[in-house]
Amino acid sequence: MVGPQPYYITTPIYYVNDAPHIGHAYTTLACDVLARFMRLDGRRVKFLTGTDEHGQKVEKSAQAAGMDPQAFTDKVSLNFRDLAKTLNFSNDDFIRTTEERHVRACQALWTRLKEAGEIYLGSYAGWYAVRDEAFYDESELRDGPGGKKIAPSGAEVEWVEEPSYFFRLSAWQERLLAFYEQNPGFIGPASRRNEVISFVRSGLRDLSVSRTTFRWGIPVPNDPDHIMYVWLDALTNYITAVGYPDTENKDYSTFWPADLHMVGKDILRFHAIFWPAFLMAAGLQPPKRVFAHGWWTNEGQKISKSVGNVIDPVVLADEYGLDQIRYFLLREVPFGNDGDFSRTAAINRINSDLANDFGNLAQRVLSMIHKNCEAAVPRPNALKAADEALLTAARELFDRLRADFGEQAFHRGLEAAWQVVGDANRYVDEQAPWTLRKTDPARMNTVLYTLAETIRHLAILTQPVMPESCARLLDQLAVAPEGRTFASLGPDGALAPGTALPKPEPIFPRYIKPEDDDSQKTGR
Ligand code: MSP
Repeated sequence: MVGPQPYYITTPIYYVNDAPHIGHAYTTLACDVLARFMRLDGRRVKFLTGTDEHGQKVEKSAQAAGMDPQAFTDKVSLNFRDLAKTLNFSNDDFIRTTEERHVRACQALWTRLKEAGEIYLGSYAGWYAVRDEAFYDESELRDGPGGKKIAPSGAEVEWVEEPSYFFRLSAWQERLLAFYEQNPGFIGPASRRNEVISFVRSGLRDLSVSRTTFRWGIPVPNDPDHIMYVWLDALTNYITAVGYPDTENKDYSTFWPADLHMVGKDILRFHAIFWPAFLMAAGLQPPKRVFAHGWWTNEGQKISKSVGNVIDPVVLADEYGLDQIRYFLLREVPFGNDGDFSRTAAINRINSDLANDFGNLAQRVLSMIHKNCEAAVPRPNALKAADEALLTAARELFDRLRADFGEQAFHRGLEAAWQVVGDANRYVDEQAPWTLRKTDPARMNTVLYTLAETIRHLAILTQPVMPESCARLLDQLAVAPEGRTFASLGPDGALAPGTALPKPEPIFPRYIKPEDDDSQKTGR
């Protein structure tokens, strides 16, 4: 028997040197929405996130905090776990690179690469940026203040000379190019794919994959003076979580290769060049897709701790509402592009798309049903062309969303959903059910039924983005928990006339700036 189609999605694992901020929340949010979408679409989902705990950068942060690195990572890693809970992320696993299962997987991968002749011992002399945990070629650097050299990312580099193992990346150049060619969907969006391809075409050098000048990492098998390069360690998390090195186990055979590694644009090279090369060199399959999203700025400025403009996602959710922020982040900026967070833009979206358009639609319709249809789903009569048109638009939305979310175009999917919201609002105005109440109550029932069915579709389909609000809306439509998956879309799952409905409560309040709120001013 063929079971449900699996779907394995991962976030990058986050460095524990930092408190979680909007960038981390954004990457995980996008994955959460896809994981929820695929579950509702009947797929068997594994959604992985976690923390990247080794390397010089984390070691330095631990030192600065006056803590032992293990104790430090135990503490900071919890912040990321808590964030996942607070933001209602539905990850199925949370991996830490200091876990035993991960150390085992990394050492097994290393041994395999070593045995395959893909890793050799040499010595490294070159530039390294601790902030990026990345090696840079002299030609990539520019001069910074105080005679310092600066990487393209803006990170300071330092000169490193030490014995090191190397991975034969240069030997993978042609095979990587052939792989991109044969798998046109491997890198998204397309503009990023082109960047990666031209980078690989310009030539790859062998990659230093071990360090000897500090200790916080996974020891290299049979040569414990070396610890593994933190990116080799970190990338391996994606297969640790499906049970590697046991490739015969159920999880591995079900979920590997992963369907999607979601990453920010800054770490695309590691995922789209190093990672498939490591995997192919070890005789393992590369993931199916890597998507690189853009970066957020804050009111036009780069977000950084030194500027002091870091956005705390928990504070945002407290102020504007969690689902509101989830919606805003995915609707406002075409996914893949950079975006600017501004309070004005957030408030506009929240008040216009959510409070005015969707919220009012639901509240108007449900209140009319409550008052005029004895608080039960009305019984429709023969449908007219306008009713059919609205229902068709609502029913066609599923295919649109599946296609758009399938290529990580959240903004497009949401825009399509809000077109249906707009259609429904125009339909209410045109049909004027409040007038029909007196002139033609049977027709009023048909109109309100058509609207309730449309709202049911919208609520089911937007659950991945706004899980709590949509659940409340579906409660108000008395849709049973088992009727909330995508299998219940369309006429088969239609609302049953006569079903009693609870008293409606508004779902999306308007955001009122505290300074404009008179009740707060007077302390009432
Ligand atoms: N530890 C590595 C990833 C290893 S994956 C095998 C890492 N961690 S990170 O904590 O620095 O960054 C994690 C993610 O946050 C990246 O995808 C990065 O793009 C994202 N963001 C960090 N700041 C961001 C913004 N200002 N805006 C959007 N996303 C950004 O890299």
